[in-house]
Amino acid sequence: MITGASTGLGAEAARQLVRLGATVAVVGRSPEKTAAVAREIGAEPLVADFTRLADVRALAGTLLDRYPRIDVLANNAGVVLTRRSRTEDGHDTMFQVNYLAPFLLTNLLLDRLTTAGPARVISTSSKANRSAGIDLDDLEGARTRSELLRYGMTKLQNILFTRELARRTRGTGLTATAFHPGVVPGTEINRDSPLIAALCRYRLLGRVATVAEGAAPLVHLATMPDPETANGGYYHCLKPNGPVHPHATDAQLAARLWDRTADLLGLRVA
Ligand SMILES: NC(=O)c1ccc[n+]([C@@H]2O[C@H](COP(=O)([O-])OP(=O)(O)OC[C@H]3O[C@@H](n4cnc5c(N)ncnc54)[C@H](OP(=O)(O)O)[C@@H]3O)[C@@H](O)[C@H]2O)c1
Repeated sequence: MITGASTGLGAEAARQLVRLGATVAVVGRSPEKTAAVAREIGAEPLVADFTRLADVRALAGTLLDRYPRIDVLANNAGVVLTRRSRTEDGHDTMFQVNYLAPFLLTNLLLDRLTTAGPARVISTSSKANRSAGIDLDDLEGARTRSELLRYGMTKLQNILFTRELARRTRGTGLTATAFHPGVVPGTEINRDSPLIAALCRYRLLGRVATVAEGAAPLVHLATMPDPETANGGYYHCLKPNGPVHPHATDAQLAARLWDRTADLLGLRVA
């Protein structure tokens, strides 16, 4: 099951996984785009807008009803937003879509993921994770001015989530990984961020990858025969142990971030 699969990297990963024989649930925000991708690859379309936590809860309910086993949960949906806004749940929109919603979705599915077979939770992070650290008293980046820094914070939160998820579920068969897909201007990621689009255009964010190349790490992590070797880790494209912000290796911070986030959501987690 892949979020953010109505276009871009998620859609391409869904195509590649279907070609490899997987049954894929295509999750997107736009009903039209989600239906089009699902139709193209013979998959089930599911629609949820992560700016509404009620949608995330409804999505989890649908998945639990329909899928007795979920082998792979790919938390891939993400946005780069130029302007700050709040969701109806009262959170910063980029924080909620990129971090809070996948945290909630994973936790709502956790029993199924840990009991129905050796599942994998894969988070699409970014090399932007190195741009800013985590302030537990300012999780939503209210004090951070730059959109790139705030985006990077959400992507560092994805890595800390991965690390802590791996720790909490050790021994259950569940494995958790995160990755940077490469700089892939061929997706719609820059639709709300002309600044980053321009940085990509002038090759200022490094080498540019195709959409197929960008989807390859997700497919690799979903299919690698020995996921235990990658558990809790962060890949830079297809390479393990990618470069991370120093906070990414702080186990205590990962645990405290998890607890803070669960509190924000009113989740009771073990
Ligand atoms: N492209 C890059 O260079 C790059 C680099 C590093 C990391 N990433 C990460 O890769 C992931 C995929 O990005 P992409 O490049 O494929 O971008 P994309 O083409 O814009 O795809 C983003 C996906 O997220 C979905 N999404 C956006 N807002 C949502 C919301 N409120 N609720 C639910 N779904 C929502 C979109 O749905 P709709 O289209 O239906 O609205 C779309 O399916 C993101 O997490 C991004 O941060 C990308």
